[in-house]
Amino acid sequence: MLQCWAQQQNYEPIEVSRTEGCWIYTADGRKIFDLRSAHECINIGFRHPRVLQAMQQQMESVVYVTDDFASPPTAKLAQKLASLSPGSPNKKVYFCQSGAAAVEAAIHGARLYKYNQVVLNHNYVPDAPQQYPYPYKIISRYRSWHGATSAATSASGDPRRWFTEPLTAPGFVFAPDAGGPHSPFDTKSVSENIAYLDYMIEQEGGSSAVVGVLIEPIVGSNGIMLPPAGYLERLQDLCAKWDLLFIVDETMTGMGRTGRMFACEHYGIEPDVLIMGKALGAYCPMAAAIFSEKISQSFDEHYFGHGQSYSGHALAAAAALASIDALFEDRLLEHAQSMGVWIEKRLQKIAEKHEIVSHIQGIGLFWTVHIAGESESAPVRRATEKYQKNLVASISKYLLDQHNIYTPSDKFGIWIVPPLVVTHEEMSWILDCIDDALVQSGRI
Ligand SMILES: Cc1ncc(COP(=O)(O)O)c(C=O)c1O
Repeated sequence: MLQCWAQQQNYEPIEVSRTEGCWIYTADGRKIFDLRSAHECINIGFRHPRVLQAMQQQMESVVYVTDDFASPPTAKLAQKLASLSPGSPNKKVYFCQSGAAAVEAAIHGARLYKYNQVVLNHNYVPDAPQQYPYPYKIISRYRSWHGATSAATSASGDPRRWFTEPLTAPGFVFAPDAGGPHSPFDTKSVSENIAYLDYMIEQEGGSSAVVGVLIEPIVGSNGIMLPPAGYLERLQDLCAKWDLLFIVDETMTGMGRTGRMFACEHYGIEPDVLIMGKALGAYCPMAAAIFSEKISQSFDEHYFGHGQSYSGHALAAAAALASIDALFEDRLLEHAQSMGVWIEKRLQKIAEKHEIVSHIQGIGLFWTVHIAGESESAPVRRATEKYQKNLVASISKYLLDQHNIYTPSDKFGIWIVPPLVVTHEEMSWILDCIDDALVQSGRI
């Protein structure tokens, strides 16, 4: 098999014999803590009994039927996501199998909605005679990752996009990041940032050319970055001003990762399209694009011209439903919230102790310890140096080799993203090990 994003000659996967909770047991007798929750896919931990039981039961009746038929778990999951996500529950949900596919569906659905809105429902006259007849542009941000399919990669500022260039899909424009050390705007100058976006939208053709803005509410793959206070709310208002759709990608931040079911809830925003993936299906590939009432209504009369095999897989839906129940019944959202407060205090002490830590950032059980270069303005890894070996990779190797803690690090810092079932005792041990790795970092 080809390993994702890797030179294959170095591929040496560790053979696994069993997984349980936060732990991976290897064939050669090691017990490894998964500090990345299987790339944020197993928020409820490996082999949660409630989910396994739901899957076993579901396999007795329906594993998969097409959407010409209704299977109870799929229908219930759509209803649950529509009511749990912010805004009116009268939404419609499109199911697929990966975050990238959900991003594709969100972009495609958003464009079709605009097409319905401007071309089919009104006597639409474009601003300029030669203009494309309906809005198609999506504005996303440089520090972002939305997946490896064509449109999703084209919407991603992440250097992984470079593997696709120059053949990226047209119709994507990048905006500056919300804040943080790499943004041209000071974290505090939300007004400047929003004013620049307003200018950008106008220059890109305004409402007659731009469909919407696509963002991760808290940036994930590009080095966990929280939005500055007020930014997301102002961005939502800006979308409303230009009649653009606000498309929010919660593939990584959804399913309780940040201490709320959706990161959106921390900021009181209501997206027009909300994207989910990763932990949604627990142990099954399951992702969703949740369309607001206004968008889904436009498909009552007009075509939703999108689809794929296995959409709404009943077994995966049963796993997702049980996983959502587990989040609430095991009080994992509250646990993630309180662990986040405690982790921040511990990390602040670690940051004060180690000069190579530039800053820490996170919320709930979604944290990174950012490693500095010579100064804050010269981080150890520039955004454009993703594929070079660096100190972060050495620290991550040290954690795996010496402490049996797995936290892959092709990123800007040390990721602390454990399953939400992590205990205080386990977390305390992990933070001690990270402290040790930072002490050793001069030698590794
Ligand atoms: C925010 C975000 N969106 C989309 C994706 C793509 O998800 P998938 O790998 O399931 O296609 C990712 C993956 O890391 C992600 O972090």
